[in-house]
This record gives sequence, C-alpha cells and structure tokens, in this order.
Amino acid sequence: MSALSKVLTEEIRKIEDTRLVEDSISKYRLTHHLMPPVGWLNDPNGLCWFKGRYHVFFQYAPFEVEGGLKCWGHYSSEDLVNWRYEGAPLLPDSPQDCHGVYSGSALVENDKLHLFYTGNVKLDGDYDYINNGRETSTLHVESEDGIHFSNKEVVIPFSKYPEEYTCHIRDPKVWKDGEVYRMVLGGRKKDDTGAVLFYQSKDFKDWSFEKEITTETPFGYMWECPDYFQLGGKGILSVSPQGVQREEYRYQNIYQSGYFLMENNDKYLDSRDFREWDMGFDFYAPQTFTDGKGRRILIGWMGMPDAEEEYINLTVKEGWQHCLTLPRELTMNDGKIYQYPVEELSSLRKGCCEIDRRKSQIDLRGPFDLELKIEGETAEIHLGRDLSLSYRNGCAVLTLSEDAGAGRRTRKARLDQLKEVRIVSDISAVEIYLNRGETVFSTRYYPGEDRRLLRVEAEDFRGKVFSLDSMTFGYCSLRAR
Ligand code: FRU
Repeated sequence: MSALSKVLTEEIRKIEDTRLVEDSISKYRLTHHLMPPVGWLNDPNGLCWFKGRYHVFFQYAPFEVEGGLKCWGHYSSEDLVNWRYEGAPLLPDSPQDCHGVYSGSALVENDKLHLFYTGNVKLDGDYDYINNGRETSTLHVESEDGIHFSNKEVVIPFSKYPEEYTCHIRDPKVWKDGEVYRMVLGGRKKDDTGAVLFYQSKDFKDWSFEKEITTETPFGYMWECPDYFQLGGKGILSVSPQGVQREEYRYQNIYQSGYFLMENNDKYLDSRDFREWDMGFDFYAPQTFTDGKGRRILIGWMGMPDAEEEYINLTVKEGWQHCLTLPRELTMNDGKIYQYPVEELSSLRKGCCEIDRRKSQIDLRGPFDLELKIEGETAEIHLGRDLSLSYRNGCAVLTLSEDAGAGRRTRKARLDQLKEVRIVSDISAVEIYLNRGETVFSTRYYPGEDRRLLRVEAEDFRGKVFSLDSMTFGYCSLRAR
C-alpha cells in the first residue's frame, strides 16, 4: 500500500467512526436502503454475486456531504437483507484516477472478481473539462476474495478513445458473451450528442473498439452509466441520458434513465422507444447483474445529480446524503420490463394488518410494506399528510406535502389501468410499485411524524400492511477494525 493510500484509508476510517457515534441522533437514517456511512453516495458500482456473497460497491465521497472526491464504498451480503459494510477498497491514489475513482462494473471469471472503472483526471489549467483538460482511462483490478484488490492497470488509455468524442467517456460495463468479453461505455460526442461505445476483448486486457450506438435524432448531450444485458430473449441497452427536454408525463427530472430493446443490430435507435425505469424524483444510473439463482437484479441510485435548487435534502445537515434503491428483480412482460423488490425483503415482514373497503384506514408507525389489489377506474392512497398517490383518467400522480417533499411536489405517469399497488416505505425513502412493477416511483421524502394514518379510497380494494424489521448494515465491522 502506498503512503497516499494509507493516509486516505486512515482518514476515511476516522470520519466513518465519528459518524457512527453520531448515528443515534440522526432522524432520517434508513432501515431498508444502503446509505453512505458518512458523506455522499451516488451510483451503484461493481454489482455481482461472487463466492456466495452479493457485492454492492458505490460511488462514495466520505469527506464532503455535497459530493467531491470519489472512491468506491463497499457492502456485501449473503441474502440481500443482512449487509456488512466492507470499507472503501478503491481510492483515488494513482496518477490515472487521482481526481476520482468513477463508476464501473464487475465481471466474475475463473474464481476471480474483476472490476472495471473509469479513472478521472483533471489537468491543472484553464480548461472547460468537457472538450479538454480531462482524461478518463478505463482501469482494471482483480480480487480472489472480493475484499482485497490487486494493483490497478489501465486497459484502455484515454488517448485510444475515438476522435469524435469529448473527454466525457466513462462508466464501463463488462460482460462475457460466448468466447469474447464485451464492454459498453457512455459518452458525449463533440457535436454534443450522447452515445455508447462498444468494445470487445479476448482476454479482458486488450480491448478493441467495435461500434458506436446512438439515436437517429439527438437524445441528450451525454449518456452516462450504460448497461447491456439479455432479458426474456431480448437485448436491453440501459442508459442515463443528460440533456433531454422535460415533459409533463415523461422526463420530469433533470436527468433520465431508461432502456431500449435492441431489436436488431442497428447503429441507430429511435428515442421514441426509450422507456424510463422509474417515474419518481430520485432514480438515476441503475446497474444490473445476475445472481446465483439466475435472477437479473437491478439497483439504482436513489438520488439525482444537479437537483433543483428548491429541493433541500434534509439529510445534509445530518452529514450524509442519498441511498441506493432496494434490489429489484427484473422480468420481461409484453415487451416491457417489470421491476419488483427481491423476495428476500419479505423475510423482514412482521405484524400484519388487513385493509379493505370496510376497514379503509390503518394507523401506522415506522417503515412498512403495503400490498394492495384494486378494482375500479379511480383510486387514492393517502399516507397521513405526507404523501398521496392518485389514479384517474389513465394517470398516476404522486404528490408530496410541502414539508415531506422538502421543495418537491408531484410526479406523474401514464398507465392504462391500476390493479395492484405495493409501497415499501422507509424512514425517509419510499418506493411505489404499480401493477407489480410495470411502473415505479422512487423518492426520498421527509415525514414529519413517525405515526401516520394510511387511508385508501377505491371502488373496491383489499390488501395487507406489514411492519418491517430493519435490514442490518454491519457497521460493527467498522468498530472492530
Ligand atoms: C453518474 C456519474 C458517472 C460518473 C460518476 C462520478 O452519476 O456522473 O457518469 O462515473 O457519476 O461519480
């Protein structure tokens, strides 16, 4: 370990230990979502199932609650509900990643865990850092145990990327396809359009550029955090575009994330085929992986970069910001991807209350998991004064109260019918799954009171509300180190 790596590791440990002491006075810390121990979290990275454990790495800026120098933080788990915080294994300690260990992915091969990521370097000088002044190489490390990693090696140096691109090329997702390895990177072209770049390799060390895929008409200026996978016999390309025009029912956030079904080998996609992953306020940069049970699982960042000025994230004054979504199992249904919390979450359910037309109100306390079947053309669900979900005229509307929304009010989604609702509500985060995950709203919110009245109105409905035991996050491993 270099002297720099040692100092960074020590400083991160110190600040995390202080945070743990303060944890008891925090009002908004979560019980069912992975958060940074301290400071800032963004994209999920390096998701994988390796030697009997799930590994979830994440973009982590422990020193600054508003973001800043990024390393990778790390949680692992056997069952997706009992987690262990493993520390920060990838630090910005080499000349190729000294301004940030940016996002990337994992490949499990021959009993080893391989991580690929973008090393961010900002040159000193008067640059715009878009067209010049930034270098973003692709780096690789490997591990036998998922905890200790080898030295970093550059597998695609910045100088080798195609000419037509700005300095914004990043976020490698790597997978094995038969005998070859493939990588997709997100990029911003010099004409300010977003695209993805495909590379291939026989040994995942020597990579050659294969093709670019973009839309026929420009769809944003930059595509971040791409992913590519097969589901239900179809190729899926997921991207997080920046610079797409907002609309009333689509693209309501500043940045988007969604997917294209890759029907054939076309170089050009049609932006009208882009389907958003999530319609809530806080969802960006998702990644997927397959686990030991063969499930395709998605985890997103439950946050939004460069969010609106009027939004005051109330966790900032507690010294931390953002979380990841629940792990969601993906299934393909009629050409659409459905997302639903992995079944392991149900192991945390305890006390159950039934709700129906005769008993349409329930007094709730703390995190809960609601499952509801609905009949009729319209429906309303109210959670105290904090949150409501209404459905009428083919439109679902999520509304947050002024206080609980901390500056944010409504998000909408078009939906042909509403038959089922699942709400997983954490201390300051809520995920709402409509029709078993056909449409999802994920958002942070800040309930004023622990105790709230759940009230449902619809022609007919019946369901169950469970209170939930907490996930565990294994911070005790921090104390032991
Ligand atoms: C997306 C992103 C990635 C980048 C990372 C840096 O949120 O901007 O493109 O690698 O965050 O933290």
